[in-house]
Amino acid sequence: MSADELSMEQIDLLLKAAVAAPSMHNTQPWRFEIDRHAINIYLDGSRALPAEDPTGRAMRIAAGAATFNLRCAAAAMGCGSWFGLMPDRYDPDLVARVVVEPINEPDRVLKQLAQEIPRRHTSREPVRPVHLAAEVRALLSKAAMTEQAELTWLPAPKVKEVLDLLVDTDLREIGDWHRRAERAHWVGGERSTDGVPSSVLGPRSAAYPSPVRDMGTSPTDQTRSRAVFEADPVLAVLSTNADTRADQVAAGLALQRMLLTATREGLKASFLNQPLEYDDLRRAVQRSTGKPGHAHMVIRFGHSTVTATTPRRPVSAFVPAHQESS
Ligand SMILES: Cc1cc2nc3c(=O)[nH]c(=O)nc-3n(C[C@H](O)[C@H](O)[C@H](O)COP(=O)(O)O)c2cc1C
Repeated sequence: MSADELSMEQIDLLLKAAVAAPSMHNTQPWRFEIDRHAINIYLDGSRALPAEDPTGRAMRIAAGAATFNLRCAAAAMGCGSWFGLMPDRYDPDLVARVVVEPINEPDRVLKQLAQEIPRRHTSREPVRPVHLAAEVRALLSKAAMTEQAELTWLPAPKVKEVLDLLVDTDLREIGDWHRRAERAHWVGGERSTDGVPSSVLGPRSAAYPSPVRDMGTSPTDQTRSRAVFEADPVLAVLSTNADTRADQVAAGLALQRMLLTATREGLKASFLNQPLEYDDLRRAVQRSTGKPGHAHMVIRFGHSTVTATTPRRPVSAFVPAHQESS
């Protein structure tokens, strides 16, 4: 890196890390512009989910997660990163601006977490019954808090309440062709660049409601094999105090710091976000935490040895042609 410009190699490393972030239906709804030693992260409206994410909240969470990965990759290359969320109120698609500069002592935790980026994957497999030690729970809560969000661990009766909300969600989806068509567009089959391939859907649950979201829509996916999932899932809700666009991006940073920390602790995570796609059920999820705030993710944790990976578009697809790095 010269004094004030990122090299092509650095841009490539930074963006490869960023795009490994999770996104709803693996839409990868971000694009990047490089400005000397700063990277601007934008939402890509062409990859929106108008039926399931009409306000763009899930997109902003994904872009926040990509921003966090980018900061980790900067630390791993010996740089510091300074960032602003939603830095231009006249440009709502500009989610974050990250300035990357060489530094004597890069953030040690971000540098460590960078190693977990390629190892983190959403796991929709049954997990071994797990007793999460209080220290691990505290570690994950602290990770969320560091990024201005809160992780609430649900006690068994509240887990049951949230699982009941999944039934409500399923009932509402019956006959909602717009949502089903959108999901069918992004989920299932073989996929080489985006979307959720059938290979990562995991088995169908033998019991209902399931602690894993069954995203399959095609006849083949709906008849895949069944398995018994854990009866007492470990669930936590990630929330923020307010629900501005910047809060939603912050929730993404918190999500990713927490997921990479969980990966480092040998945990796998999956998401039960379907009730959060309806305003009233989202409020009910937040009520289950017993705290004020706005729920962004319902996260299930566990141990599993199965690793299922989703594809990503090449980095060149995310930057303007004149800034292409690979
Ligand atoms: C905001 C958001 C919502 C998501 N909702 C769900 C969900 O409800 N169920 C699910 O199984 N996965 C959900 N995911 C996970 C994505 O499907 C997953 O991140 C994507 O397919 C990429 O796969 P990876 O996480 O293994 O890299 C969500 C991810 C994000 C960021």
